[in-house]
Amino acid sequence: MSILRVEDLTRTYSSGGRDLMVLHGVSFTLEPGDTFSIVGPSGSGKTTLLGLCAGLDRATSGSVYLNDIRLDTLNEDQRAAIRNQHVGFIFQNFQLLPTLTALENVMVPLELRGEKGAKQTAQSLLERVGLGQRGHHYPTQLSGGEQQRVSLARAFANRPKILFADEPTGNLDADTSATVIDLLFELNREAGTTLVLVTHDLDLAAKTNRIIRIKGGTMVNG
Ligand SMILES: Nc1ncnc2c1ncn2[C@@H]1O[C@H](COP(=O)(O)OP(=O)(O)OP(=O)(O)O)[C@@H](O)[C@H]1O
Ligand SMILES: [Mg+2]
Repeated sequence: MSILRVEDLTRTYSSGGRDLMVLHGVSFTLEPGDTFSIVGPSGSGKTTLLGLCAGLDRATSGSVYLNDIRLDTLNEDQRAAIRNQHVGFIFQNFQLLPTLTALENVMVPLELRGEKGAKQTAQSLLERVGLGQRGHHYPTQLSGGEQQRVSLARAFANRPKILFADEPTGNLDADTSATVIDLLFELNREAGTTLVLVTHDLDLAAKTNRIIRIKGGTMVNG
């Protein structure tokens, strides 16, 4: 059974009365426990592809099967339920809720699942990313790298089967970046979480089992 299967995916955006096709028929399959990276130039469609795989966005054509569930036939509520059950997502721009503290942001997925002890679990996740003392800060009171680590803790809170991370080390210094990478691969080793990373860091990409390169919305070799 595959954890993620993408078949001939296309995505066209309409803006200013014109259509722009940003993905041209992308296909691949990931097995549970795989680690996978997507690399390619800015604007090549990486974030778009990740959003489709995670059920955050809908393809123009083609299909996405997450844990053998076909996402494109589901409505928004059904896709949200699947995301909450199976998926962790670290956004390129973090997308923390601005009116909630760091601790409360990490608690959101736990509370959505109705878990007991959400506060303690969220606190221990913040400690793992080195932010145990910053739980009461609001996102605007945190640096970019700190927000990225809160976003990581929130994604871990779901205990996802598959974790999508869009440039998870893009805003971090070398030491913090190494810590975050260790955490991601620990999650893969210990919980069997499938990792899908978008990164410009070729050293990080080289740590994953497979690399795909996207250029102009198409998968290219090498
Ligand atoms: N909502 C939208 N409406 C119109 N065009 C969009 C929209 N979102 C993205 N695009 C366009 O789609 C293309 C792919 O964008 P995407 O964000 O997937 O690129 P990316 O590979 O993640 O780039 P980066 O490395 O800079 O993050 C870009 O040319 C972008 O301008
Ligand atoms: Mg992007």
